Amino acid sequence: MRSEPMGELVLGIESSCDETAAAVVRDGRGILASVVDSQIAEHAPFGGVVPEIAGRSHLRSILPVIDSALAQARCGLDDIRAIAVTTKPGLIGSLLVGLSVARALAFARGLPLIPVDHIEAHVYAATMECPRSPYPCAALVVSGGHTTLYKALSPLAIERISTTLDDAAGEAFDKVAFLLGLPYPGGPSVSKLALEGDPKRIAFPRYRPRPGPGETAPRFPPFSFSGLKTAVLYHLRGQDAAAPTPPPEAIADRAHVAASFQEAVVDALVEPTIRAARELGLATVLVGGGVACNRRLREKLQQAASDVGINCVFPSPAYCTDNAAMIAGLGYQRWKAGLVAGLDVDASSSCG
Ligand code: KG4
Ligand code: ZN
Repeated sequence: MRSEPMGELVLGIESSCDETAAAVVRDGRGILASVVDSQIAEHAPFGGVVPEIAGRSHLRSILPVIDSALAQARCGLDDIRAIAVTTKPGLIGSLLVGLSVARALAFARGLPLIPVDHIEAHVYAATMECPRSPYPCAALVVSGGHTTLYKALSPLAIERISTTLDDAAGEAFDKVAFLLGLPYPGGPSVSKLALEGDPKRIAFPRYRPRPGPGETAPRFPPFSFSGLKTAVLYHLRGQDAAAPTPPPEAIADRAHVAASFQEAVVDALVEPTIRAARELGLATVLVGGGVACNRRLREKLQQAASDVGINCVFPSPAYCTDNAAMIAGLGYQRWKAGLVAGLDVDASSSCG
C-alpha cells in the first residue's frame, strides 16, 4: 500500500490497563502511527479502573484501534514484519484481549510474535525521541501501577535496582485526588489544583528508610507512598480514625493540600533517583510512565540533575502515558535480538 521505502514496520498492541492502543513503528524508532483509545470516562465514576469494564472495553475497541493505526500509517498488514504485544504486567483480563488478537494476527499472517514487558517499554519510550543513544543510564518508571528504578545498559539489558514497598506514585495521586473530591485520573487533577496552592504550606513526610540497629542501609533504598497518603488522610479528618473524611467542599485548604502532597511525591522521587545515578556513575536519567507528565516532577528532576551534571530525558506527554508506540519500538529491538515467542505465549499480571 505504501510506495516510499519504509524500513521494517512493527505493529504494537497494548491493552494492559485502561488504554487500548496500537501503533506502527519503523525500525524501532520512527512512529508512523500511534492510536490510543482511553477508557477514562468509563472508569471515572468509580474513581479507579474496574477490571471487568476494562476487559470488555478492550474487546470492543481493539480491532478498530488497530485498523486506525494501520490507516494512519498508510499501510496494510502486508507491510507489517512483526507483531509486538504487551504480555505483562497488568490486568490479566485486559492483557489477554491484546495478546489473543496479536496471536491471531501472527498466526494468520505468518509473522513473528514478540512479547514485551510494559514497564521496560515505558523506559524505551523515553529513548525514542532522543537524538543520541542515552545508554548507559538510570531509568525511573513512575506510573499508576509502578514506581521502579532501573540501571539500563541497553534497551534489552535493564536491571531493576529499587521499587516501591507499597503504593505506586500514580496510585497515590489517584487516591489523594479521591480524598480531595477531584476527578480520576488523579495526577492531572491534583497537579492542576496544586498550581493554586503553596507547596510548603503543609509538611507532609518524605519516606526515608532508617536501618535498625546493626542493619546496613540498602544501596538503593525503596520508595514508599502509603505513609504520605495516610498523612493526607489524617490532615483532612484529624487523628480520630473513626471520624469521617470531610466532604471536598468543607476542605478549606484543598489547593495547599494538593500542592504540598505533590511536592512530597516529587521530592521522594527526585532525591533517590539522582543519588542512584551518581552512585552508579551514570550520566543520564530517563523517566517514563504517566507521572512523568507531571510538570513539577519535570522541573525539579531537571534542576537536580543539571546541578550535578546529569542529563535528564523525559518523553513527550503522549509517550509518558500508556501507548503502543513504546511496545512496537521495544518489540523491534527484541525481535532483532531473536526474542520471538511461540503462539502459546501467555500473559502475566505480575512483573516476574
Ligand atoms: O503509565 P500510565 O498511563 O498507566 C500505567 O501504566 O499505570 O500512568 C497512569 C498514572 C495515573 O495514576 C495518573 O494519575 C498518573 O499516571 N498521571 C499523573 C499525571 N498524568 C498522569 N500523575 C501526576 N501528574 C500528572 N500530570
Ligand atoms: Zn503504563
